[in-house]
Amino acid sequence: MPELAARSHLEAISTVVDSALHALPGGWDDLDAMTVTRGPGLAGCLLVGTLYAEGAALARGLPLCGVSHMAGHVYSAWLADPSLEPPYLALVVSGGHTECVLLREHGVAERLGGTRDDAAGEAFDKVARLIGLPYPGGPAVERAARAGDATRFPLPVTRIPGGFSFSGLKTAVRYTVRDLPDAERTETGVPRDGQTVSDLAASFQQAAIAQLVAGLEEALERTEAERIAVVGGVAANGALRDAVRAHFAPLEVTVPPLSLCTDNAAMIGAAGWHRLRLRGPDPPGIVVDPSLEEYA
Ligand code: KG4
Ligand code: ZN
Repeated sequence: MPELAARSHLEAISTVVDSALHALPGGWDDLDAMTVTRGPGLAGCLLVGTLYAEGAALARGLPLCGVSHMAGHVYSAWLADPSLEPPYLALVVSGGHTECVLLREHGVAERLGGTRDDAAGEAFDKVARLIGLPYPGGPAVERAARAGDATRFPLPVTRIPGGFSFSGLKTAVRYTVRDLPDAERTETGVPRDGQTVSDLAASFQQAAIAQLVAGLEEALERTEAERIAVVGGVAANGALRDAVRAHFAPLEVTVPPLSLCTDNAAMIGAAGWHRLRLRGPDPPGIVVDPSLEEYA
């Protein structure tokens, strides 16, 4: 509900900023610059953020720049490991995005391909619901999958040249659940047996990861990158982290700690730091762009 989300942003923003600044001994006085997300996202929320930032920067005499949320994810890897110099290839996997992005040099990035339908995290969330696991689905599916047999239910590993697609895999899980004998489904239509839930979770997770690894490999072949990063909420998945490390060894694979995988403000600061360094502050009147396609 975009309207409610924007109102909640307005109510929370000062408290959130103040509590973040608590970490600095001098609070606001310790800041050298500010940076704010100007897209992609909900227009109302982006407006609350940018107007707040413009007001604060003006009042404090601080330089300010607007950055892309996606650049933040790409730079979360650099923040986790500042020795990670471009060019590096980032697999950005979250609830809203699944794309391969090449950071050619600081400030210059190219999107090599993305999902045609659902994002990977969205697929984890939808499949979790189909098999009776709670939201957010990613951690629940990962937990259930540990006790599961990934070979019991063969599921398709979709391959789309230059991209990803998760809706077919999700539908295959739906049909698999639908085709279970009636006695094996609860009144709400989810599998009754815990082992079946685990086996489905394991099969789905394996197929999703196989597609991500294959898509990343294809993107890597189109670049000269020798370093790989996996970022975004789904990068919290241990099986995905292990699969990427194993598949691309001996290439260096950077996966940020959990706190930098899921959406966070530090990554926006990291992207903004590079932007300020390269291009200087934005003039007043930062323009929000709900469908911004910018990766550095
Ligand atoms: O980056 P994020 O915090 O927010 C968005 O920008 O979307 O990502 C959230 C997504 C959710 O879909 C969630 O299910 C997924 O990340 N996720 C995971 C795991 N932890 C979070 N997916 C798979 N395995 C996990 N352990
Ligand atoms: Zn995000």
